[in-house]
Amino acid sequence: MHQKRQHTENVQVVRSNDGSCTAYSQEYEEHYHSTKDGALNESLNKHVIPALLHVKEKTEITILDICFGLGFNTLATLYYLQINKIKKAVTIISPERDAELVTSLHNFDYPDIFKPFLPVIAAISSKQEYHEDNIHVNVIIGDARTYLKTTTTMFDIVYQDAFSPAVNPALWTREYFSDLTRLMKDDAILTTYSTAFKTRLALHEQQLLVYLNRGKCFRNATVASKQELHKYERVDMHHKISCNPNIEVLRDIHIKNLL
Ligand SMILES: C[S@@+](CC[C@H](N)C(=O)[O-])C[C@H]1O[C@@H](n2cnc3c(N)ncnc32)[C@H](O)[C@@H]1O
Repeated sequence: MHQKRQHTENVQVVRSNDGSCTAYSQEYEEHYHSTKDGALNESLNKHVIPALLHVKEKTEITILDICFGLGFNTLATLYYLQINKIKKAVTIISPERDAELVTSLHNFDYPDIFKPFLPVIAAISSKQEYHEDNIHVNVIIGDARTYLKTTTTMFDIVYQDAFSPAVNPALWTREYFSDLTRLMKDDAILTTYSTAFKTRLALHEQQLLVYLNRGKCFRNATVASKQELHKYERVDMHHKISCNPNIEVLRDIHIKNLL
């Protein structure tokens, strides 16, 4: 049993299996990361490493981090670039509706490897942005769906890391993925921990190619792209659809309260 400690009114801190702390949301009744895979391990292996390998030739990248939460995906991105001495101009834009959580993050118990990036978290906690040389991070307090509808920014990487479709359906519908796909550059990559057929079907419907992201130290995840990827096993969506002809993707009309 994981011990919990109150962090904000809605959020409790929990230690995950790789030793890093994650949190439990009392509002969504779900953890921010897989406690089995570990928060840091999940962030690196399901999101950051596949995404940064995909853009390794680019000198300038723009990342959409859906949603900021505890900021692991953003911090792990900066960590991975630093330890591998990768020099790139990086802009990270991350919507997040929980303002109280964001302003509390300077007190969060992050893994030691994030220590060099504590000034990033301090800046985000106090003014929701961080700018230094080639690194720009902007946390947009508000609804991610509104951000997607209003921005004209095009992204190289999308970290699709909402709570699960069961508890956070607004960030997994056909209409949501339609907005998201419109903002992906032709050679962009999307990463997600979700392997649910409905999620993959929603990506497939947007003409994205769907791949299995598999590794020894984490449970299966998904990557998707408008263009063919050669390092991953393609999910045969036509076969899966023929085996599950009655399964439909989530749609906005299925959701009572869209937040
Ligand atoms: C699974 S957590 C994200 C974990 C985060 N990527 C990390 O590494 O710590 C999901 C986050 O989405 C936020 N969220 C849920 N629905 C949202 C919405 N419609 N707009 C913006 N943020 C939302 C929640 O407040 C929560 O912080």
